[in-house]
Amino acid sequence: MPYILAIESSCDETAASVCRDGVIISNVIYSQEVHKQYGGVVPELASRAHLQAIVPVVDEALEKANVLLCEIDAFAFTQSPGLIGALLVGAEFAKSLSLACDKPLIAVHHMQAHVMANLIQKPGEKSNKPAFPFLCLTVSGGHTQIVLCEGILKMKVIGQTLDDAAGEAFDKSAKILGLPYPGGPLIDKYAKDGNPVKYKFPEPKIDGLNFSFSGLKTAILYFVRDEKLKNENFVAENINDICASIQSRIISILLNKLKKAADETGIKNICIAGGVSANSGLRSSFEEMGVKEDWKTYIPPFEYCTDNAAMIAITGYYKYLAGIFEDLSVVPFARAPF
Ligand code: KG4
Ligand code: ZN
Repeated sequence: MPYILAIESSCDETAASVCRDGVIISNVIYSQEVHKQYGGVVPELASRAHLQAIVPVVDEALEKANVLLCEIDAFAFTQSPGLIGALLVGAEFAKSLSLACDKPLIAVHHMQAHVMANLIQKPGEKSNKPAFPFLCLTVSGGHTQIVLCEGILKMKVIGQTLDDAAGEAFDKSAKILGLPYPGGPLIDKYAKDGNPVKYKFPEPKIDGLNFSFSGLKTAILYFVRDEKLKNENFVAENINDICASIQSRIISILLNKLKKAADETGIKNICIAGGVSANSGLRSSFEEMGVKEDWKTYIPPFEYCTDNAAMIAITGYYKYLAGIFEDLSVVPFARAPF
């Protein structure tokens, strides 16, 4: 009955979670507000905010789980990828706990954890986990990947973005429209009342299972600039249709490649994960495609899509079962393969 305490601090969320025997029993997320005024995450401020938040966030996760620190069997933390100063805070905190409690330390890859969010079980809920092998479209602020998952922790990236990530495509488009950071959820909100075929944005022709979003961003930039020359209120007057059209193109780029991956591998268990999988349009289009293609589709609950420590805890739990531990010399990395 191992208890795992997990810490996530790779970007602008300070998060902690406790899992007992693979079931998440607490999940606390503090989203740093300080970055809003700068239009993006400021690494130095993120590190400072993690330092301030980490003790209360971990305390709250233990309290909500009704577990004492001395009952924890292992401490998991996000090792990579992420902002190095932000990762260092979570890594050093987990190392200190591991040393003080004399319990093992587990390092977790953030992108692997996003995929593993599909294996999370909540107390009292029937488990509905994807069977292996499965494909996972992981779409976040820094990454866009199609991952082939052949077993627990046995993952291979078979397609990825060559430039911007899907989350960046949302956030940068939002910035062009004058919306605050992070723009993804706002585009989602405005798109709900818009016409997705009103404006046509290009779909890039990229070989294989890779993605590209930089051309789309440039097309949106020029489109908005030209329309504003004709009508300076163009964005305000058409915000719903513009957002719906941008969102629809990002979704079609993602799902067309996912379908290609499913066709090429013959795999029909398909998951999505990462912050952009919180997008309501992507969730519904993915499920529609699943029905059409006869896939079994899986989407993590909303709170496990954007950055959270429950996904670190579940990955930590499987690493605990496999006996994969680190010593106190372990360090985080800004970038690292699986
Ligand atoms: O996975 P995540 O929380 O952090 C990273 O690991 O990057 O993903 C953050 C990204 C941001 O780009 C944010 O705009 C996007 O996820 N996002 C969304 C939505 N919610 C979060 N994008 C579109 N629609 C949403 N509802
Ligand atoms: Zn993430």
